[in-house]
Amino acid sequence: MVKYAEQTQQEFEGWDEFYARAVDEKLDFFKRNDRVFDVIYAQQFARPFLDYLCKLADMIRLLAKTRVGQSKLRHLLPHKRAMLYFVQPSTRTFLSFQNACHILGLTVSEIRGTSTSSEVKGESPEDTIRTFASYVNLIISRHPEAGFAEKTAWVLNQTSRPVPVLNGGSGPDQHPTQALLDIYSLEREFRTIGGLDGKKIAMVGDLKRGRTVRSLSYLMKNYRDVELVFVSPEIFRMKDDIKEFLKKHNIPFYETEDFESIMPEVDAIYMTRIQNEYSSDPTSKDETYPQFHMKKKHLSMIQTHCAILHPLPRRYEIEIGIDKDPRAAYWRQERCGMWIRAALIAHIFRVDQEIIDEFS
Ligand code: CP
Repeated sequence: MVKYAEQTQQEFEGWDEFYARAVDEKLDFFKRNDRVFDVIYAQQFARPFLDYLCKLADMIRLLAKTRVGQSKLRHLLPHKRAMLYFVQPSTRTFLSFQNACHILGLTVSEIRGTSTSSEVKGESPEDTIRTFASYVNLIISRHPEAGFAEKTAWVLNQTSRPVPVLNGGSGPDQHPTQALLDIYSLEREFRTIGGLDGKKIAMVGDLKRGRTVRSLSYLMKNYRDVELVFVSPEIFRMKDDIKEFLKKHNIPFYETEDFESIMPEVDAIYMTRIQNEYSSDPTSKDETYPQFHMKKKHLSMIQTHCAILHPLPRRYEIEIGIDKDPRAAYWRQERCGMWIRAALIAHIFRVDQEIIDEFS
């Protein structure tokens, strides 16, 4: 059955007008029957959904521990096919989505660069998108342009095959499924100390162009009494749109360039790298901003429960010697990505109840 958006395209004058609208005004466009369908913005997620998805991810990872459980999971969606359209470099988002699909039995195809697709012959993005949907039931995209995933959802909603679209990273704008895995990781790291509510989190590095910290900041509206500290060089400060959002939702935050001064106060440190790919000279890696790096000597300055996260890849922001410390959560964090993405796909294709029933 063809499922069109709950908010019809007639409500908007066209793509340009739709794209320019505030995110809050178009959230229903990405739903079907009051459930998540397309995942484009982190603002789409509310607390009950986040809690439910984390639980579902836990169930999937528990089932996947046994051969019988793995077989049950693989038999949930063998009739579905997914397309990974990743035309911006990726290791873990690509692999975790690919393996999330494998866990649930989906068949996966991929395009990893516009030079190997017919876009190189001049095919328009719209025709390219329609072509993907001719073959698959789910499109997962990573693209250097901020609005590409959203445009994919918009274009497909006008066709007879409006398949779900998942944004796997859209330029320097958003990375909503990374935010889901970050929430899942934080909730797991804080499981024995009351979860994410009430925690103080430092985000460090290139906050201006880091899409992961932007998407994660949006999700903070769902948690009680959280506080954010933005630690960055002056030129890479968090953009005003995020700061306005935090003010609107009464989420306290402050900015500093003094990383060491906040280390003893925070419950989590979310490190990020300098996003050179968005520089006028993307090959330039000269300035490394060492005062925003986490070094082994800092381990004695942070709290015993402080979780150190990083969306990865890392370059020099976290000294390798930190990896063995139990508070280094980034390797666990990247693995969380596979489970939460499997949970998301299970939800979208409505096989979540079958997973839940295994535990009742
Ligand atoms: N965190 C993240 O998006 O990593 P990749 O660029 O390797 O996908």
